[in-house]
Amino acid sequence: RTVYVNGEYLPETEAKVSIFDRGFLFADGVYEVTSVLDGKLIDFAGHAKRLQRSLDELQMANPVTEDELLGIHRELVRLNDIDEGLIYLQITRGAADRDFAFPKDPVPTIVLFTQAKPGLAQNPMAKTGMKVISIEDQRWGRRDIKTVQLLYPSLGKMMAKAAGADDAWMVEDGHVTEGTSNNAYIVKGNTIITRHLGTEILHGITRVAVLRFAREAQMTVEERPFTVDEAKAADEAFITSASSFVMPVVEMDGAPIGTGKPGHVTARLREIYLDEMR
Ligand code: PDD
Repeated sequence: RTVYVNGEYLPETEAKVSIFDRGFLFADGVYEVTSVLDGKLIDFAGHAKRLQRSLDELQMANPVTEDELLGIHRELVRLNDIDEGLIYLQITRGAADRDFAFPKDPVPTIVLFTQAKPGLAQNPMAKTGMKVISIEDQRWGRRDIKTVQLLYPSLGKMMAKAAGADDAWMVEDGHVTEGTSNNAYIVKGNTIITRHLGTEILHGITRVAVLRFAREAQMTVEERPFTVDEAKAADEAFITSASSFVMPVVEMDGAPIGTGKPGHVTARLREIYLDEMR
């Protein structure tokens, strides 16, 4: 693979970052994941906007303009011949002698790489649905900032795998926040329920588009917290993210949701999303 590091396109084996980088030592960095379908970026503008917001919240400088960033994304798609896949972007505060306080004039580190994912839009899980378990949400309180501090979500994914499931839905005060790397939704009748925006969840870029398409299709959307019991009693459930688009959830903590098969509302939203975005 050809990757991008601080202004250079290099073979991945030649790309280097300092061991003193604050991303490495403190998880002092932010990231974005943008999908590619038919060689085209999906919702780049949304990801660029959220990136800027994450950087601003952490008082971190952006080393590139939005136009430059778009150019880098496109160049990596071209150099790596990506038809379907993901582009990962990370900006950290950069290298400095280890100190909890931010360095005075940090030079940010920017890294991008591609992941080819042939068949991303044809993921067979869209037909079978995924299984989730509920776990306590033990992440920090600013989940609206897309930081690279992902140890707890990673542990959650492993807990799910150990339980024979595909992912974990995190729960705080009895209410679902989100999945390990996706936003969580339930469907009751013609109503889609998903947690409202706040500091408790990441403001998903896919979420914005899916809720817009749902409202345009005359579905009712309620943005509010929902409980684990509500989820278990729902007609359908699904997740959204840049890497899964809209993906049905058919089981929670070992019990089927609705019929235990992907629901109609979910299937329709996935179809609309892929039709409209690609
Ligand atoms: N994850 N919530 C969390 C905690 C996430 O990590 C993500 C994205 C989402 C969905 O956001 P979006 O629709 O903008 O992808 C929600 C990415 C895909 C990842 O970490 O790989």
